[in-house]
Amino acid sequence: MEEGTSEVKPDESIEKRPQFGNRTLSNNDNVFQHNAWDNVAWNEEQENLAQQKVNENSTVTLSDEKIWEYEQEANKYWDKFYEIHENKFFKDRHWLFTEFPELAATTVKQNMKQPLRSATESEDKSSTETHIKILELPNHSGSKILEIGCGVGNTIFPILLYNTDPNLFVYCCDFSAKAIDILKQNPAYDASRCTAFVLDATQEKWETPFEPESLDIIVLIFVLSAINPDKMEHVIQQVYKYLKPGGLVLFRDYGRYDLAQLRFKKGRCLADNFYARGDGTRVYFFTQGITFNCLY
Ligand SMILES: C[S@@+](CC[C@H](N)C(=O)[O-])C[C@H]1O[C@@H](n2cnc3c(N)ncnc32)[C@H](O)[C@@H]1O
Repeated sequence: MEEGTSEVKPDESIEKRPQFGNRTLSNNDNVFQHNAWDNVAWNEEQENLAQQKVNENSTVTLSDEKIWEYEQEANKYWDKFYEIHENKFFKDRHWLFTEFPELAATTVKQNMKQPLRSATESEDKSSTETHIKILELPNHSGSKILEIGCGVGNTIFPILLYNTDPNLFVYCCDFSAKAIDILKQNPAYDASRCTAFVLDATQEKWETPFEPESLDIIVLIFVLSAINPDKMEHVIQQVYKYLKPGGLVLFRDYGRYDLAQLRFKKGRCLADNFYARGDGTRVYFFTQGITFNCLY
């Protein structure tokens, strides 16, 4: 999890950051300029070492009761998290508009909605975050954007600030009532451009303030990883249901062998590549090979 917080600064971020795929390390003196480089690949030894660490921390020693409790009370653990950290933990996503320029633009392309498994993927190869852009974009005003697992608004507030579309409308939801409460108290929360609501994305039927096939973009940033892998497919099916034909899914999340995964001690593993942190929040580490069936 990224720590810290920062204010939204309108002039930063859009132009300055090279997008994934454009960061080539040519001078070793610049190694700390970015936290990841696109031309630096792991060698076999490093990968084996990482796998060894994962093997070591992957023995499930938590009781079935505890695993069940983490599942049933997942939103309560996040409520506690936000009670403690309020809006001071996650940073505003200043890479947001570099990686997902669609969120800042007034324009959205009309493509046919396609099964999400036919996604075109681009990954930051040297960091382990997986970054999947599902479809290419295009043009129209009046975009409707939904963020799932919005937390306290570190993504939606920058969107509201930067996006110049006067008809933009942003929906955002989270299953932590505490997070939504904090988000709504933010002075940047503008109910004429944004509706925040509590929703558990894993629940069978979603109650939403929008219709199926009505959203241009759905954003999931470090949220699918917080969901039980057995329930992810359902969430993706709901995403598909509410997206317009031609809509976009913008997704970013933890990748396999992220340092966050390697640092887990024995005794926190819930299932393959799925762990509970000390505070009871959970995290899954993806590979790009994951596929979901989007029929619903
Ligand atoms: C790691 S935080 C990321 C928050 C935000 N997307 C960001 O990038 O700052 C994960 C968020 O997902 C939310 N979440 C986890 N499971 C969820 C679910 N089943 N339905 C809705 N939100 C969920 C948590 O409450 C938390 O706010």
